[in-house]
Amino acid sequence: MRGKIIQTLLDNKGNFISSEALSKKLEISSEAIREHIEVLKSAGYNIEEVKKKGYKLVDDLNDLLTYNNISNKLDTKYIGRSIIHFDTIDSTNDYAKKVALQKQEGTVIISEEQTKGKGRIGRQWVSKSREGIWMSIILKPNLIPQKAPFLTLIAGASITKALNNLGVETNIKWPNDIIINNKKIAGILTELSAEIDKINYIVLGIGINVKTIDFSQEISHIATSLYKEGHKISRVDIVRNILEEFERLYLQYINHGLKNETLDICRKHSAIIGKYIYIISNGEKELVKCLDINKEGNLVIKNDENVIKEIMSGEVSIRGVEGYV
Ligand code: BTN
Repeated sequence: MRGKIIQTLLDNKGNFISSEALSKKLEISSEAIREHIEVLKSAGYNIEEVKKKGYKLVDDLNDLLTYNNISNKLDTKYIGRSIIHFDTIDSTNDYAKKVALQKQEGTVIISEEQTKGKGRIGRQWVSKSREGIWMSIILKPNLIPQKAPFLTLIAGASITKALNNLGVETNIKWPNDIIINNKKIAGILTELSAEIDKINYIVLGIGINVKTIDFSQEISHIATSLYKEGHKISRVDIVRNILEEFERLYLQYINHGLKNETLDICRKHSAIIGKYIYIISNGEKELVKCLDINKEGNLVIKNDENVIKEIMSGEVSIRGVEGYV
């Protein structure tokens, strides 16, 4: 319901809407509207309330993810030096793939909303207007295609570092989930175009739930947002920090190979090392102990016959023994 209230206020484009009109449209009492508005305000939404006029969402134009807002104080050489910003788009990853060959490395595609946001393994990624960060970075590294999955770890490490810089403690659920309090706040979708021995381009898609308060029933037990966890942080600051951390870790990897900080961050913040987990692949579920992440970025596990194996990120899913982590 709170999601619907926010959407109605957004649709009203900065004008007041009366409590009666809201309660008629959403078919709940004015008292219930008032209670939801209080929760939204305490979560950080800037909602103005005026007697006889009703409520309006005060638009924070400084928090739109535009080139001007992000590039102001951005300390990178080429990641995010070109930003293509949309109010709405189907998927930033799909757009990035269409234009990748013509754009310079480090170009960022970012949208306030995605109508067909994609998650891993064919899943949908809910990406409502201004509720999060939905962006894709175009990369053209001089690497063999087999090394591409490591870039997902670099993205995870840079999101973790960036949020740390802003005072938020997160964990990484290898290979691509960022976790707070055992729930997911961010995911990474890495897509690759390559020849046998050469990468044409990589599109690194990052989705972060920032302001979402209501998640659908199917995902509310595994998904959360920064606002929901009590962290009211500007989306622009998050994007800027991620781009800076990403550039640093990416250049380390490109220039110095396996001697890099990414693995230290992924290990230190791992949500699964030392735990029993289920590895799910092609519908099969195996209980294993997670031992480490090795130099190549693969997960090292021990199965119930004490055989030690390496898992590449590919298409596996991971679940904790007692739930999501
Ligand atoms: C996952 O955890 O399954 C990955 C989610 C990735 C979502 C991001 S949002 C920006 C980019 N565009 C997409 O369509 N997906 C990624």
